[in-house]
Amino acid sequence: MGAFCYTIAMVRSMKRKHLLSIGDLTSAEVSGLINKALQMKRRPHLPVLRGKSVVMIFEKPSLRTKVSFEVAISQLGGHCIYLRREEVGMGSREPVADVARILSRYASAVIVRTFAQRTLETLAKYASIPVINALSDEEHPCQALADLLTIYEKRGALQGMTIAYIGDGNNVATSLALASVSVGANFIIASPKGHEIPKSAWEKARRRSLRQDTWIKWVESPQEAARGADVIYTDVWISMGQEEEARRRVEVFSPYQVNEALLSLAKEDAIFMHPLPAHPGQEISEGLLEHPRSVVFDQAENRLHMQKAILREILEE
Ligand code: NVA
Repeated sequence: MGAFCYTIAMVRSMKRKHLLSIGDLTSAEVSGLINKALQMKRRPHLPVLRGKSVVMIFEKPSLRTKVSFEVAISQLGGHCIYLRREEVGMGSREPVADVARILSRYASAVIVRTFAQRTLETLAKYASIPVINALSDEEHPCQALADLLTIYEKRGALQGMTIAYIGDGNNVATSLALASVSVGANFIIASPKGHEIPKSAWEKARRRSLRQDTWIKWVESPQEAARGADVIYTDVWISMGQEEEARRRVEVFSPYQVNEALLSLAKEDAIFMHPLPAHPGQEISEGLLEHPRSVVFDQAENRLHMQKAILREILEE
Protein backbone atom coordinates (compact mmCIF):
# COMPACT_ATOMS: atom_id res chain seq x y z
CA MET A 1 0.00 0.00 0.00
CA GLY A 2 2.98 2.25 -0.51
CA ALA A 3 2.65 5.62 1.17
CA PHE A 4 -0.42 4.52 3.14
CA CYS A 5 1.17 1.88 5.35
CA TYR A 6 0.37 3.74 8.57
CA THR A 7 0.02 1.64 11.67
CA ILE A 8 -3.29 1.65 13.50
CA ALA A 9 -1.60 3.31 16.44
CA MET A 10 -0.44 6.18 14.25
CA VAL A 11 -3.84 6.61 12.70
CA ARG A 12 -5.49 6.62 16.13
CA SER A 13 -3.17 9.28 17.41
CA MET A 14 -4.49 11.69 14.77
CA LYS A 15 -7.83 12.26 16.51
CA ARG A 16 -9.55 15.41 15.41
CA LYS A 17 -12.85 16.81 16.42
CA HIS A 18 -14.52 18.39 13.40
CA LEU A 19 -14.27 17.94 9.64
CA LEU A 20 -15.25 21.27 8.10
CA SER A 21 -12.60 21.67 5.41
CA ILE A 22 -9.91 19.55 3.78
CA GLY A 23 -7.56 22.41 4.58
CA ASP A 24 -7.92 21.59 8.29
CA LEU A 25 -6.42 18.11 7.79
CA THR A 26 -2.71 17.50 7.75
CA SER A 27 -1.23 15.43 4.94
CA ALA A 28 -0.71 12.58 7.42
CA GLU A 29 -4.37 12.74 8.42
CA VAL A 30 -5.52 12.58 4.80
CA SER A 31 -3.28 9.56 4.16
CA GLY A 32 -4.43 8.00 7.43
CA LEU A 33 -8.06 8.28 6.38
CA ILE A 34 -7.33 6.62 3.03
CA ASN A 35 -5.63 3.79 4.85
CA LYS A 36 -8.52 3.46 7.26
CA ALA A 37 -11.08 3.45 4.42
CA LEU A 38 -9.15 0.61 2.76
CA GLN A 39 -9.42 -1.29 6.06
CA MET A 40 -13.16 -0.56 6.26
CA LYS A 41 -13.64 -1.95 2.78
CA ARG A 42 -12.14 -5.24 3.87
CA ARG A 43 -14.12 -5.31 7.11
CA PRO A 44 -17.39 -3.43 6.58
CA HIS A 45 -19.08 -4.13 9.91
CA LEU A 46 -17.41 -2.86 13.04
CA PRO A 47 -19.60 -1.83 15.98
CA VAL A 48 -17.59 1.24 16.98
CA LEU A 49 -20.70 3.47 17.09
CA ARG A 50 -22.75 1.11 19.27
CA GLY A 51 -25.00 3.15 21.57
CA LYS A 52 -24.25 6.39 19.71
CA SER A 53 -26.74 8.57 17.83
CA VAL A 54 -25.66 10.76 14.93
CA VAL A 55 -27.84 13.62 13.65
CA MET A 56 -27.84 14.63 9.98
CA ILE A 57 -29.24 18.03 8.97
CA PHE A 58 -29.52 18.47 5.21
CA GLU A 59 -30.51 21.89 3.86
CA LYS A 60 -29.92 20.86 0.23
CA PRO A 61 -30.94 17.75 -1.74
CA SER A 62 -28.81 14.60 -1.50
CA LEU A 63 -28.77 11.01 -2.70
CA ARG A 64 -25.22 9.68 -2.29
CA THR A 65 -24.20 11.60 0.82
CA LYS A 66 -27.43 10.94 2.70
CA VAL A 67 -27.69 7.26 1.90
CA SER A 68 -23.99 6.49 2.28
CA PHE A 69 -23.82 8.22 5.67
CA GLU A 70 -26.97 6.44 6.89
CA VAL A 71 -25.64 3.07 5.77
CA ALA A 72 -22.21 3.89 7.24
CA ILE A 73 -23.71 4.71 10.63
CA SER A 74 -25.82 1.56 10.55
CA GLN A 75 -22.86 -0.67 9.57
CA LEU A 76 -20.88 0.83 12.45
CA GLY A 77 -23.69 -0.07 14.89
CA GLY A 78 -24.94 3.49 15.46
CA HIS A 79 -28.30 5.17 15.11
CA CYS A 80 -29.04 8.00 12.70
CA ILE A 81 -31.59 10.82 12.91
CA TYR A 82 -32.18 12.66 9.62
CA LEU A 83 -33.62 16.19 9.63
CA ARG A 84 -34.57 18.33 6.65
CA ARG A 85 -34.02 22.08 6.45
CA GLU A 86 -37.62 23.01 7.21
CA GLU A 87 -37.77 20.74 10.24
CA VAL A 88 -34.92 22.59 11.95
CA GLY A 89 -34.96 26.13 10.56
CA MET A 90 -31.31 26.74 11.41
CA GLY A 91 -30.81 30.47 11.67
CA SER A 92 -34.52 31.25 11.15
CA ARG A 93 -36.61 29.23 13.58
CA GLU A 94 -33.69 28.86 15.96
CA PRO A 95 -30.18 30.37 16.13
CA VAL A 96 -27.45 28.11 14.77
CA ALA A 97 -25.62 28.34 18.12
CA ASP A 98 -28.68 27.00 19.97
CA VAL A 99 -29.10 24.12 17.50
CA ALA A 100 -25.47 23.21 18.21
CA ARG A 101 -25.93 23.33 21.99
CA ILE A 102 -29.17 21.34 21.94
CA LEU A 103 -27.89 18.58 19.67
CA SER A 104 -24.78 18.27 21.84
CA ARG A 105 -27.05 17.17 24.72
CA TYR A 106 -28.50 14.23 22.75
CA ALA A 107 -26.19 13.05 20.00
CA SER A 108 -22.56 12.03 19.47
CA ALA A 109 -22.02 13.97 16.22
CA VAL A 110 -23.82 16.12 13.68
CA ILE A 111 -23.40 15.84 9.91
CA VAL A 112 -24.53 18.96 8.06
CA ARG A 113 -25.18 19.87 4.42
CA THR A 114 -25.70 23.59 4.18
CA PHE A 115 -25.06 26.75 2.17
CA ALA A 116 -22.64 28.99 4.05
CA GLN A 117 -19.39 27.62 5.48
CA ARG A 118 -20.02 30.10 8.30
CA THR A 119 -23.01 27.99 9.46
CA LEU A 120 -20.67 25.01 9.91
CA GLU A 121 -18.14 27.16 11.72
CA THR A 122 -20.81 28.47 14.11
CA LEU A 123 -22.07 24.96 14.76
CA ALA A 124 -18.52 23.81 15.49
CA LYS A 125 -17.93 26.78 17.77
CA TYR A 126 -20.95 26.07 19.97
CA ALA A 127 -21.21 22.27 19.77
CA SER A 128 -19.42 20.03 22.21
CA ILE A 129 -19.79 17.20 19.68
CA PRO A 130 -18.02 16.81 16.31
CA VAL A 131 -19.44 18.57 13.25
CA ILE A 132 -18.91 17.03 9.81
CA ASN A 133 -19.32 19.01 6.57
CA ALA A 134 -21.52 17.01 4.19
CA LEU A 135 -21.20 19.80 1.54
CA SER A 136 -21.33 23.55 1.77
CA ASP A 137 -21.10 26.23 -0.90
CA GLU A 138 -17.34 26.30 -0.28
CA GLU A 139 -16.30 22.69 0.23
CA HIS A 140 -17.17 19.01 -0.08
CA PRO A 141 -14.46 17.31 2.00
CA CYS A 142 -16.08 13.84 2.23
CA GLN A 143 -16.28 13.71 -1.56
CA ALA A 144 -12.64 14.70 -2.04
CA LEU A 145 -11.40 12.11 0.45
CA ALA A 146 -13.43 9.38 -1.25
CA ASP A 147 -12.05 10.59 -4.59
CA LEU A 148 -8.47 10.13 -3.40
CA LEU A 149 -9.33 6.61 -2.29
CA THR A 150 -10.72 5.89 -5.77
CA ILE A 151 -7.69 7.34 -7.56
CA TYR A 152 -5.37 5.33 -5.32
CA GLU A 153 -7.26 2.12 -6.06
CA LYS A 154 -7.57 2.68 -9.80
CA ARG A 155 -4.13 4.14 -10.50
CA GLY A 156 -2.15 2.39 -7.77
CA ALA A 157 -0.65 5.63 -6.41
CA LEU A 158 -1.41 9.23 -5.57
CA GLN A 159 2.03 10.73 -5.39
CA GLY A 160 3.02 12.16 -8.77
CA MET A 161 -0.44 11.74 -10.32
CA THR A 162 -1.81 14.69 -12.26
CA ILE A 163 -5.47 15.42 -11.60
CA ALA A 164 -7.11 17.64 -14.22
CA TYR A 165 -10.35 19.27 -13.15
CA ILE A 166 -12.39 20.76 -15.98
CA GLY A 167 -15.15 23.24 -15.24
CA ASP A 168 -16.43 25.34 -12.35
CA GLY A 169 -14.04 26.20 -9.50
CA ASN A 170 -16.74 25.24 -7.03
CA ASN A 171 -16.96 23.38 -3.69
CA VAL A 172 -15.94 20.04 -5.23
CA ALA A 173 -12.99 21.59 -7.09
CA THR A 174 -11.80 23.42 -3.98
CA SER A 175 -11.78 20.34 -1.77
CA LEU A 176 -10.19 18.24 -4.51
CA ALA A 177 -7.39 20.78 -5.02
CA LEU A 178 -6.60 20.86 -1.28
CA ALA A 179 -6.84 17.07 -1.01
CA SER A 180 -4.69 16.36 -4.09
CA VAL A 181 -1.73 18.44 -3.04
CA SER A 182 -1.94 16.96 0.48
CA VAL A 183 -0.98 13.55 -0.90
CA GLY A 184 1.63 14.63 -3.41
CA ALA A 185 -0.59 14.74 -6.50
CA ASN A 186 -0.47 17.63 -8.97
CA PHE A 187 -3.68 19.56 -9.60
CA ILE A 188 -4.59 21.49 -12.72
CA ILE A 189 -7.92 23.24 -13.22
CA ALA A 190 -9.32 24.60 -16.45
CA SER A 191 -12.11 27.08 -15.85
CA PRO A 192 -13.44 30.23 -17.48
CA LYS A 193 -12.12 33.49 -16.03
CA GLY A 194 -14.29 34.51 -13.10
CA HIS A 195 -15.00 30.89 -12.15
CA GLU A 196 -11.65 29.96 -10.63
CA ILE A 197 -11.23 28.37 -7.21
CA PRO A 198 -11.63 31.14 -4.57
CA LYS A 199 -8.39 32.94 -3.85
CA SER A 200 -7.95 32.04 -0.17
CA ALA A 201 -8.38 28.29 -0.78
CA TRP A 202 -6.13 28.49 -3.84
CA GLU A 203 -3.40 30.14 -1.79
CA LYS A 204 -3.77 27.49 0.90
CA ALA A 205 -3.47 24.75 -1.74
CA ARG A 206 -0.48 26.49 -3.32
CA ARG A 207 1.36 26.74 0.00
CA ARG A 208 0.65 23.09 0.73
CA SER A 209 1.80 22.05 -2.75
CA LEU A 210 5.18 23.70 -2.15
CA ARG A 211 5.62 21.70 1.05
CA GLN A 212 4.65 18.48 -0.74
CA ASP A 213 6.91 19.10 -3.72
CA THR A 214 3.99 19.12 -6.10
CA TRP A 215 2.19 21.84 -8.11
CA ILE A 216 -1.18 23.42 -8.79
CA LYS A 217 -2.04 25.36 -11.89
CA TRP A 218 -4.96 27.27 -13.39
CA VAL A 219 -5.43 27.41 -17.16
CA GLU A 220 -8.27 28.65 -19.30
CA SER A 221 -8.02 25.91 -21.91
CA PRO A 222 -9.62 22.53 -21.10
CA GLN A 223 -7.38 20.88 -23.71
CA GLU A 224 -4.26 22.19 -22.03
CA ALA A 225 -5.43 20.83 -18.67
CA ALA A 226 -6.39 17.41 -20.06
CA ARG A 227 -3.15 16.79 -21.96
CA GLY A 228 -1.18 13.98 -20.28
CA ALA A 229 -3.37 13.90 -17.15
CA ASP A 230 -3.91 10.76 -15.06
CA VAL A 231 -7.40 11.79 -13.99
CA ILE A 232 -10.01 13.85 -15.81
CA TYR A 233 -12.55 15.16 -13.34
CA THR A 234 -15.61 17.34 -13.80
CA ASP A 235 -18.65 18.46 -11.82
CA VAL A 236 -21.94 20.17 -12.60
CA TRP A 237 -21.95 23.69 -14.04
CA ILE A 238 -24.90 24.71 -11.88
CA SER A 239 -24.42 23.80 -8.25
CA MET A 240 -27.30 23.58 -5.79
CA GLY A 241 -28.42 27.11 -5.00
CA GLN A 242 -27.27 28.55 -8.38
CA GLU A 243 -30.39 27.62 -10.31
CA GLU A 244 -31.19 31.24 -11.17
CA GLU A 245 -27.85 31.55 -13.01
CA ALA A 246 -28.50 28.42 -15.06
CA ARG A 247 -28.82 29.99 -18.50
CA ARG A 248 -25.73 32.18 -18.19
CA ARG A 249 -23.66 29.34 -16.75
CA VAL A 250 -24.54 26.90 -19.54
CA GLU A 251 -23.33 29.50 -22.03
CA VAL A 252 -20.08 30.32 -20.19
CA PHE A 253 -19.15 26.69 -19.54
CA SER A 254 -20.14 25.15 -22.88
CA PRO A 255 -16.48 24.97 -24.15
CA TYR A 256 -15.67 22.97 -20.98
CA GLN A 257 -17.68 19.85 -21.73
CA VAL A 258 -15.78 16.64 -21.00
CA ASN A 259 -16.20 14.34 -23.99
CA GLU A 260 -14.32 11.56 -25.74
CA ALA A 261 -12.13 14.04 -27.66
CA LEU A 262 -11.02 15.72 -24.42
CA LEU A 263 -10.52 12.38 -22.68
CA SER A 264 -8.31 11.20 -25.57
CA LEU A 265 -5.79 13.94 -24.72
CA ALA A 266 -5.17 12.42 -21.28
CA LYS A 267 -2.88 9.45 -20.64
CA GLU A 268 -4.00 6.19 -22.23
CA ASP A 269 -4.86 4.74 -18.83
CA ALA A 270 -6.39 7.92 -17.41
CA ILE A 271 -9.65 7.61 -15.51
CA PHE A 272 -12.74 9.80 -15.73
CA MET A 273 -14.43 10.96 -12.52
CA HIS A 274 -17.57 12.91 -11.59
CA PRO A 275 -19.16 13.28 -8.14
CA LEU A 276 -22.67 12.96 -9.66
CA PRO A 277 -25.43 13.79 -10.37
CA ALA A 278 -24.27 14.27 -13.97
CA HIS A 279 -25.94 16.12 -16.82
CA PRO A 280 -25.13 14.45 -20.15
CA GLY A 281 -25.30 17.13 -22.83
CA GLN A 282 -23.92 19.74 -20.43
CA GLU A 283 -20.69 19.08 -18.48
CA ILE A 284 -20.30 15.62 -20.05
CA SER A 285 -21.20 14.20 -23.43
CA GLU A 286 -23.91 11.55 -23.77
CA GLY A 287 -22.67 8.12 -22.75
CA LEU A 288 -19.53 9.30 -20.94
CA LEU A 289 -20.56 7.71 -17.65
CA GLU A 290 -20.48 4.36 -19.45
CA HIS A 291 -17.08 5.01 -21.09
CA PRO A 292 -14.51 2.27 -20.34
CA ARG A 293 -12.37 4.86 -18.53
CA SER A 294 -15.24 6.05 -16.33
CA VAL A 295 -15.00 5.03 -12.66
CA VAL A 296 -17.95 7.10 -11.45
CA PHE A 297 -19.93 4.28 -9.83
CA ASP A 298 -16.91 2.91 -7.94
CA GLN A 299 -16.23 6.50 -6.97
CA ALA A 300 -19.79 6.79 -5.59
CA GLU A 301 -19.41 3.51 -3.69
CA ASN A 302 -16.24 4.79 -2.05
CA ARG A 303 -18.24 7.53 -0.33
CA LEU A 304 -19.53 4.79 1.99
CA HIS A 305 -16.10 3.38 2.85
CA MET A 306 -14.49 6.77 3.32
CA GLN A 307 -17.31 8.11 5.48
CA LYS A 308 -16.99 5.07 7.72
CA ALA A 309 -13.31 5.86 8.06
CA ILE A 310 -14.16 9.48 8.92
CA LEU A 311 -16.76 8.43 11.52
CA ARG A 312 -14.31 6.00 13.08
CA GLU A 313 -11.55 8.54 13.09
CA ILE A 314 -13.73 11.11 14.81
CA LEU A 315 -15.92 8.98 17.07
CA GLU A 316 -14.13 5.73 17.91
CA GLU A 317 -13.12 5.58 21.55
N1 NVA B 1 -21.06 21.25 -6.93
C1 NVA B 1 -22.23 20.43 -6.69
C2 NVA B 1 -21.82 19.14 -6.04
C3 NVA B 1 -22.90 18.12 -5.91
C4 NVA B 1 -22.39 16.84 -5.29
C5 NVA B 1 -23.22 21.20 -5.85
O1 NVA B 1 -22.83 21.85 -4.89
O2 NVA B 1 -24.42 21.12 -6.15
